[in-house]
Amino acid sequence: MLSPLSSAFIHHFASPPAAIVRAPGRVNLIGEHTDYNDGFVLPMAIDRAVWIALRPRPDRQVHLHSLDFDQSIVFSLDALDERQGWAGYVQGVAWALQDAGYELRGWEGVMAGNAPIGAGLSSSAAAELAIARAFARVSGLPWHPKEMALLAQKAENQWVGVHCGIMDQLISAAGAAGHALFIDTRDLTTEPVPLPEQARIVVFYSDAPRSLASSAYNQRWAECEEAVRRLQGVLPGVTALRDVSPEQLEAHRHLLPPVIYRRARHVVTENARVLHSVSAMRSGDIPRLGELMLASHASLRDDYEVSSRELDLLVDLAVNAGAFGARLTGAGFGGCAIALCRAEDADAIAQRVIGAYNGRTGRAGYAFVTVATDGAGVVFPR
Ligand code: GLA
Repeated sequence: MLSPLSSAFIHHFASPPAAIVRAPGRVNLIGEHTDYNDGFVLPMAIDRAVWIALRPRPDRQVHLHSLDFDQSIVFSLDALDERQGWAGYVQGVAWALQDAGYELRGWEGVMAGNAPIGAGLSSSAAAELAIARAFARVSGLPWHPKEMALLAQKAENQWVGVHCGIMDQLISAAGAAGHALFIDTRDLTTEPVPLPEQARIVVFYSDAPRSLASSAYNQRWAECEEAVRRLQGVLPGVTALRDVSPEQLEAHRHLLPPVIYRRARHVVTENARVLHSVSAMRSGDIPRLGELMLASHASLRDDYEVSSRELDLLVDLAVNAGAFGARLTGAGFGGCAIALCRAEDADAIAQRVIGAYNGRTGRAGYAFVTVATDGAGVVFPR
């Protein structure tokens, strides 16, 4: 990616870039729809990412060309007004940084990514963190991954107007090569957990539309809040589903309408599965991690109802092909599934599953074996 990006930069701005920054997309191994419930997540940053080649400008303008959208934008840091499209994400990050009191400088750049856009691998969080890293580089800002993740999330929530938790931004900012990151989303403490050497993660893109994703996501969020409100009557210390144990939920099941009960059951059991998964990874117990991933998928499918026919099919095919476990990753409603495989089986499983999937659905799904990479950083000059 670095040399095509440098060439494109020279094409647009006549001489080589001063720096190149990178921020990764992610898969989540387990812990889905828990981050807006103050719960636990276990994502890893992947080798699909967004890169920006850039050079500071003497003024307060940003000139940016996107190779993926084949579009250029120009704006002044003193007149931010675009909230739509990819330009909205760029200006949103500038807004959040300035709102936090940072003095920004202008720059010119070329941006490109290889994380599929809108596929559930957090290409937008990767773009946000790459933009933040670019501003930090040219403006000489200190780079604190957690703070930058929070500002990127604020840009997405408050500027672009899309609801999301902190998981995607934090893993893109703070990922560690060879590791997943255990995150307690209540206090944002993180702990790198090594991926067992013999294990590989295969990503399957379902190529199915995610049209209802954002309204269904907001509805799930509201359902969790309703569960908390109803449980607070009998469990006064509870401020989020994170505070409710599976036993407490069962004891007070009668207080919740059936759908709200099932949503809450997904979240409280998923939190427990994340903690078990961390132990399984630490002891190198890959089969156990696979079982937990399958249980997570079943819970997302049946209790949380965010899976799709395509994702269920990918999970079944992966297990039949010999994966230890598989599950949808990210918000669901389409997007991607992941499978946990033995290193030596990963390529064969990827090919077998996607061949069968494309044949049965007629969709242009594809698969790739991924590795855990570092979070956002400056990749040139090193
Ligand atoms: C999306 C959101 C995350 C998280 C997941 C579901 O990726 O951006 O914050 O809520 O869905 O786990």
